[in-house]
Amino acid sequence: MFERLDRLNEDPILGLMARYRADPAPDKVDLGVGVYRNLDGETPVLAAVRSAEASVIGAQTTKSYVAPAGRAEFNAAVADLVLGPAHAALRERRARTVQAPGGCGALRLGAELIRASAPTAVVHVSDPSWANHIPLLGGCGLQLARYPYYDAAAHALRFESMLECLERAPAGDVVLIHACCHNPTGADLSGPQWTALIDLLERRRLTPFLDLAYQGLGTGLDADAEGVRRVAERIPELLVAVSFSKNLGLYRERAGALIAVCADVDRADAVHSHLLQIARSIYSMPPDHGAAIAARVLADPLLRESWIAELGEMRGRLVGMRALLAGRLRAATGGGDFDFLTGQSGMFSLLGVSGAAVAALRDEHHIYMTADSRMNVAGILPGNAQHVADSVAAILRRGI
Ligand code: LMR
Repeated sequence: MFERLDRLNEDPILGLMARYRADPAPDKVDLGVGVYRNLDGETPVLAAVRSAEASVIGAQTTKSYVAPAGRAEFNAAVADLVLGPAHAALRERRARTVQAPGGCGALRLGAELIRASAPTAVVHVSDPSWANHIPLLGGCGLQLARYPYYDAAAHALRFESMLECLERAPAGDVVLIHACCHNPTGADLSGPQWTALIDLLERRRLTPFLDLAYQGLGTGLDADAEGVRRVAERIPELLVAVSFSKNLGLYRERAGALIAVCADVDRADAVHSHLLQIARSIYSMPPDHGAAIAARVLADPLLRESWIAELGEMRGRLVGMRALLAGRLRAATGGGDFDFLTGQSGMFSLLGVSGAAVAALRDEHHIYMTADSRMNVAGILPGNAQHVADSVAAILRRGI
């Protein structure tokens, strides 16, 4: 049976992670996979997580099943965190949240729900977007299309082209939107741009599917959810995929959730029943440990305060490293314009160089970034910024 299967190419992000690990060079720099790194270059367990984890394990009396929807208190806390506790969708009981195996699990749950209710709907994905959006959403059979989002060479949003493209999408189609810290560009919509997009979604009767994987790593916990909240004020039906991989550092625990906001309570109950059945048919129930930790951090005022403070430090480090890298690149290139780095937010920015330049940075300078020249700025440290800047400048001088 398996003789029909040819060997596939490596995943573009996870394959790069493996290549970086295998590189023995002492001065190698990992700007690849999207994990946060502190000033020591480590991806630490957050203090609030460490403390919550100890109390979760201490209080655990059983390993029995939870439920396909996961933990009720986790789901309630996630809905509050994302939508804000006073949001009309929560007050009117029109939102249903289901715990999922990470943000990826939430995206796939959402895709399966779309396929169940609107199998011919096309999902419009930004160009560029996170590489794994395509298999996660398209893998269940949905048709995908791309809308222009960002010009990597000009380091600028293509907002007018985005609107023009979505204006032509038929009613009932779905638009995948990065809620904050766009991956891979770091270029987010401004307040007025969100307004224009929401106007279009409403007028064209398009369903938004928001991916919120970096809440708190852009501008702040509430500010990063502002786009989602504004969409949910105006559009009756939407989906939000939530991840705690980055903002709680729970990567390997796979803690995420899907929020479905519906037009009314009955529709919300129907959607919920489908989500439970989809979860049951794919993985039965989500893993509990990460969600138990997240629920504890969100519920305990002291742990929550500690988390918010640490998240603020993480965000500050990203902002600081953006400024450091932009300055070093400017100096190393003799005045090149790298201001885009400081104007963007979250972990990622596109350097805007060719695939050949990315390969030369990796093979000759041991600097790892994805083929589209996405850099994870959390990989920049005071000790490696000069090496990165000098290497990029050397590659740019070669004009490849
Ligand atoms: C990334 O974009 O690098 C992260 O979200 C990790 C992943 O799973 O791709």
